[in-house]
Amino acid sequence: TRPWRGLIDGYRAWLPVTDATPVISLHEGNTPLVPAAHLSALTGCDVWLKVEGANPTGSFKDRGMTVAVSKAVEAGARTVVCASTGNTSASAAAYAARAGIGAAVLVPRGHIALGKLAQAVRYGAEIVEVTGSFDDCLRIARELAEHHPVALVNSVNDHRLAGQQTVAFEVVDALGDAPDIHCLPVGNAGNITAAWRGYDAYATAGLATGRPRLWGFQAAGAAPLVHGEVVAEPETVATAIRIGNPASWRGAIDARDSSGGLIGAVTDEQILDAYRLVARHEGVFVEPASAAGIAGLLAEHRAGRLDAGQRVVVTVTGNGLKDPDASMRGGYESTTSSARTADVAQALRLTS
Ligand code: F0G
Repeated sequence: TRPWRGLIDGYRAWLPVTDATPVISLHEGNTPLVPAAHLSALTGCDVWLKVEGANPTGSFKDRGMTVAVSKAVEAGARTVVCASTGNTSASAAAYAARAGIGAAVLVPRGHIALGKLAQAVRYGAEIVEVTGSFDDCLRIARELAEHHPVALVNSVNDHRLAGQQTVAFEVVDALGDAPDIHCLPVGNAGNITAAWRGYDAYATAGLATGRPRLWGFQAAGAAPLVHGEVVAEPETVATAIRIGNPASWRGAIDARDSSGGLIGAVTDEQILDAYRLVARHEGVFVEPASAAGIAGLLAEHRAGRLDAGQRVVVTVTGNGLKDPDASMRGGYESTTSSARTADVAQALRLTS
């Protein structure tokens, strides 16, 4: 079989590209779908993790960005702009660097994880730290794109959603059919919108016998879709989904209702418990926001709303290395030793 060369190469017929479209790719996609033995045992279901942190910039954003930046370059753009809680900015900056064009990223000052900022710096983005929320950043980015020659690459750009549908294609291709339930975190709501679109397209084409129920989870302090109203001052430890007015609001509600799914809220404590659990028991290190789908699955199980025996895929959206502060918060256990083997053995309590 041919080596993997990225999503536009792998799923060309499903994407809005032509032979005239330059392919800007970091060979994103084709991420691991790994069985989750511990979560399966806890829930009585057949649980799988779609590990999106394995993408080139460490999050699912690369799926949409390869398409959005390729189309922007095709249209002659010299600069892309986005608002971001961090991952979109890292991805936009990387693909812009690859294309040889500029990237301007607007991020909420003080509310973006260290690793994401480090990425934007190194990829050479122009960074504006806005003293406001993500929602402020998105409003400004939209206004900039309206009045200046810069291409907006937030998920309000349909090319982003087109690329992000590929996660559903990969899941069906790997499992042989759609799962019963697909869980994922929800922030600006582009990803749940795109995942539904992907499953629907595959089923319509006869490549899956059905469609999963989509179970989206927001952080309790940033859950506008759950409450049915904008949250003016969203707060959560999961900075990636600290969003009060999601751009793809209607898409998320449609994904929920058309799939017979749900959108629920999980507390920061539930998110952090799931964050620790998935690393400790599945060997998968994700960032806090990425654990919201797992936290939600476990909460639904405890509430008796998860029937046993179902096949469940959970998207874990971003790599744990993105947010080192989250891992180190509350300190960690270690011992110090001299550089003598006997002392290290003693530190490890290896007595015989
Ligand atoms: N998980 C992670 C790690 C994210 O970075 C995001 C969104 C989401 C989940 C939610 O996805 O917005 O499509 O509902 N991050 C955006 C950003 C907002 O700017 O990086 P969504």
